[in-house]
Amino acid sequence: MITLNRLFDVEPWKIVENTLNTKDFRLAESVMSLGNGHMGMRGNFEEKYSGDFHQGSYIAGVWFPDKTRVGWWKNGYPNYFGKVINSTNFIGINVLLNSQELDLFSETIKDYSRELDMKHGVLTRSFTVIQDKKETSVKVTRFLSIAEKELAVIKYEIIPLNYDGDVTFIPYLDGDIRNEDSNYEEDFWVEVNKEVSSFEGSLTMKTKDNPFNTPTFHLTTTMKVEIDGPVRSVTSSIENEYVDNQIDLELTKGQSTTLYKYVAVTTDRDHEVGDLVQVGKDLLSKNIEKGYQQILKEHQEQWFKRWEIADVEIDGDPEAQQGIRFNLFQLFSTYYGEDSRLNIGPKGFTGEKYGGATYWDTEAYALPLYLATATPDVAENLLRYRHKQLDGAFHNARQQGLKGALYPMVTFTGVECHNEWEITFEEIHRNGAIAYAIYNYVNYTGDKGYLKRNGIDVLSSISRFWADRVHYNNKKEVYMIHGVTGPNEYENNVNNNWYTNLMAVWTLKYTLEVIEYLQSNNLDEHLKTLDLTDAEIAKWKEITEKMYFPYDKELDIFVQHDTFLDKDLIHASTLSPEERPLNQKWSWDKILRSCFIKQADVLQGMYFLNHEFTLSEKKKNFDFYEPMTVHESSLSPSIHAVLAAELGLEEKAFEMYHRTARLDLDNYNNDTEDGLHITSMTGAWLSIVQGFAGMRTANEALSFAPFIPASWNFYQFNIVYRDHYIKLNVCKDSVKISQQGSDLTLTLYGEKVQIPSEGTVIIPLKQKETTLQ
Ligand code: BGC
Repeated sequence: MITLNRLFDVEPWKIVENTLNTKDFRLAESVMSLGNGHMGMRGNFEEKYSGDFHQGSYIAGVWFPDKTRVGWWKNGYPNYFGKVINSTNFIGINVLLNSQELDLFSETIKDYSRELDMKHGVLTRSFTVIQDKKETSVKVTRFLSIAEKELAVIKYEIIPLNYDGDVTFIPYLDGDIRNEDSNYEEDFWVEVNKEVSSFEGSLTMKTKDNPFNTPTFHLTTTMKVEIDGPVRSVTSSIENEYVDNQIDLELTKGQSTTLYKYVAVTTDRDHEVGDLVQVGKDLLSKNIEKGYQQILKEHQEQWFKRWEIADVEIDGDPEAQQGIRFNLFQLFSTYYGEDSRLNIGPKGFTGEKYGGATYWDTEAYALPLYLATATPDVAENLLRYRHKQLDGAFHNARQQGLKGALYPMVTFTGVECHNEWEITFEEIHRNGAIAYAIYNYVNYTGDKGYLKRNGIDVLSSISRFWADRVHYNNKKEVYMIHGVTGPNEYENNVNNNWYTNLMAVWTLKYTLEVIEYLQSNNLDEHLKTLDLTDAEIAKWKEITEKMYFPYDKELDIFVQHDTFLDKDLIHASTLSPEERPLNQKWSWDKILRSCFIKQADVLQGMYFLNHEFTLSEKKKNFDFYEPMTVHESSLSPSIHAVLAAELGLEEKAFEMYHRTARLDLDNYNNDTEDGLHITSMTGAWLSIVQGFAGMRTANEALSFAPFIPASWNFYQFNIVYRDHYIKLNVCKDSVKISQQGSDLTLTLYGEKVQIPSEGTVIIPLKQKETTLQ
């Protein structure tokens, strides 16, 4: 069992911390992160903190190619690892109370609270600091506007409770920031320009030139400060990569003094370099004129709109409720689909580990949520992003001496930038997820037009890769794929990973189907330009017919890879808590030799191609693999929750739900201090919508088969499906589905149900059965 250390109060719309926990400070910083799609930062303090912390502010699409560092260079390794870079600290406000610097690490404080309000998208802190019996109450509010993406706002309010005195505020912009994970301890930024005057300042930094011909970026942060209180004097200072204002004020006992720091964060991704400062200043003037309350109101209205569509309500389980809202909040703070140049990085704006902007996580785990909770162009943008990166994928395949396209494991541009051989060269199953996402999008939205050009470009290029990557085993007269790493990264260089073979064959089949569709509907104009030969297509077909899939007759299961069953097959329940997580406690070779599975592997295939397997096949494989699975990838629990729910294993589904929904809040994998697991944050939603409610969409047919966990009174959510806006409510004894849109036919517990436009159906809730042996 895993021991949990709960740091935050359980509240439906808030994450609240009532103790300044210096030991788990980084963990809380991760959890208290804010983002607005354009920028984001960890829950850092504005004022000084001299304990251990991780200052982290990140700007979407701004990255640096950090020169690869490895022990033994292997041909084919990428030259660099692309990193989301830690950028100018623009939230900083140092505070001197009666000439004494406020440092929350060493100060005596009381009534401390830090609170992330997810409904309104606001982070607040409040505390009373006691210095030589002088008590000062402080309240800080911060938000990154989602109505005005380049705007960050901080309100810093202090009240001297039992004295008259003075305060100095030092709002600053600090560009001297480094990535903790820089390979050569390099500074990725150089200063370009700075200016400062009373109550304002600006700092422009540029990413260093690099030898890899990747783009450089300019980042300008511009601040304006407003004060509500009696200012005595203002001075400014300029240092290397730094500007500040020093504002002295008189404090009167019981009276509040407030500083507003407005910051514009502009980059040359959106504006001409020469305009960055002016654009920032204009944006600030325009907004300051509106006033703090109005800016906040516009920001909150946008959050309300998001919640109106995407909120999942759970009655009867406050922890589950808080968990899913936290996940949706952090996910939407990272990506809401407005900028087609962006994607969803595993840590979003909350940390540095993992680097890169895009993993297979997006297609495999995030796409279904965006399909159902946003307009179709958001999902299409995610597909187009990959289409635009096709050249990079051709490059990656060439690096391996192969034809076609190999989408990268980690990338900003399409070019692989991850450099561990077992992942870069071997974890090629990722290509299957990119193809599957096209099917998923077209099947869900009905937008077959996507296949004509972009869709077939990507599918045919991935198919060419698979056709070159397989080999024919003459003796056994089957095709095989050797030397891979499946989704389970706790085994490398295996032969015939069932999942990889499955997705390779599935991609080829789907591509052939799409070709047939385009040809028979006279939509093949673009297809003809792709020079696919008859021989090539015949070979694809042959591979689909003669692929080898490891299977054990006696156990009647698909075997994860050729030699998996030769291992010492024991259950994860035999591990002691001290050994978990294995990746932090065991040597790597011990992990590789063990049977323990990091994340869904065979079961990932059964999740994707759910409609192609019988319930009995799913049950046998689930029963065999799940007990060996340690879920040490945050992506793992949700897939298990969905399958367990389908199999009627309610307790397991519930356990997996909690694990995915509260992964970071309860720090299940003991690594939340590095940042949040953003791409896994769809997991709670997948568990409820596809798991508990049993939503399926294969073959362009919508169906549900809901159950409700024993401790819940009801749950409800909305989905957008084609032109329907559907609300599903599941309570102890009934399922209620309402919809807006044209007449809708769907399947509920295997029976066809018609719901007229603006109509509602209510039927009794069915009990799940686990009759399968
Ligand atoms: C998982 C990968 C995933 C990556 C980023 C790893 O721990 O094993 O499947 O792509 O994290 O989330």
